[in-house]
Amino acid sequence: MIHSFLSTLIFCALISVVTAAPSLQRRQAITTISTTKRASFKPYSFYASTAYCQPAKTLTWKCGANCKANPSFEPVASGGDGSDTPFWYVGFDPTLNTVISAHEGTNTSSILSLLTDANVAFTNLDSKLFPGVPAAVQVHSGFAASQAQTAHSILAAVKSTLSTFASTSPSVTVVGHSLGAAISLLDAVYLPLHLPSGTQIKYIGYGLPRVGNQNFANYVDNHITALNGGQGLTRINNREDPIPINPGMFLGFHHPSGELHIQDSGDWDACPGQDNPSTLCIVGDVPSDVQGNLTNHDGPYNGVTMGC
Ligand SMILES: *[C@@H]1O[C@H](CO)[C@@H](O)[C@H](O)[C@H]1NC(C)=O
Ligand SMILES: *[C@@H]1O[C@H](CO)[C@@H](O)[C@H](O)[C@H]1NC(C)=O
Repeated sequence: MIHSFLSTLIFCALISVVTAAPSLQRRQAITTISTTKRASFKPYSFYASTAYCQPAKTLTWKCGANCKANPSFEPVASGGDGSDTPFWYVGFDPTLNTVISAHEGTNTSSILSLLTDANVAFTNLDSKLFPGVPAAVQVHSGFAASQAQTAHSILAAVKSTLSTFASTSPSVTVVGHSLGAAISLLDAVYLPLHLPSGTQIKYIGYGLPRVGNQNFANYVDNHITALNGGQGLTRINNREDPIPINPGMFLGFHHPSGELHIQDSGDWDACPGQDNPSTLCIVGDVPSDVQGNLTNHDGPYNGVTMGC
């Protein structure tokens, strides 16, 4: 009798711990970031936008306004064909003292078909590219295939940039928009597995769709978001852009933490947690695709509309 009473007590205590966790997350404050903090993302908005330029132009850093916005950039390598393999480039920013690695995104019709296709499927990460990442970590198979296409070229370019522009605090910042944000997120997981420990990794993505399952989101939170005092990952989404709510959570996809949501007012709000349900954050602001506005996908982010 006493025994079963005790187990009931323990059971009830466990239930209240389990149910308390999500409400705790909901109660964490959503805060509007300062204009100074917001401005600090602007160079990276231009870097993500620049990825839409032809490789010949990024390699000479002559691509008009996008390149001029980051005038001290030292390009090292570029590639891609703009269709099967999105454009990419790697180089060094001496002002920000970081290697920049960027992938181009794709147009809205093409990204939508990747996300809403009945064939949205999970795959394990290739153990040669991602040694030691647990098999329970699964990602969108199309994003994994795109990342695998350029993984070796990106790694070689990042290594060469790090050695040419040696620094006492080596840092790599991976950026991208749309499909490019998804590929770069996989790069952010991939690169540290092949670079000297002590190399700081930072991720800044724009209009990022969901890339993987709950284990992926947790892995990213522990290995990327947690870096740099919890500022290792930032995913910025604009107004009612529906791309970041796809693929749906009902399909098992989840975002890592680190959301910044641009409001209709123009304010940028920091949304704690992985898929914060507040109406101030993308999940609550865009409950379904029909409530979204695809025009918002390309920006503007800090006044930067994505595209070369
Ligand atoms: C969108 O991009 C895809 C893949 O690069 C391309 O095949 C398609 O023609 C593009 N569509 C538009 C409307 O630009
Ligand atoms: C979608 O967003 C654009 C750009 O902000 C805006 O001009 C347009 O009115 C919006 N469409 C709807 C249906 O809200």
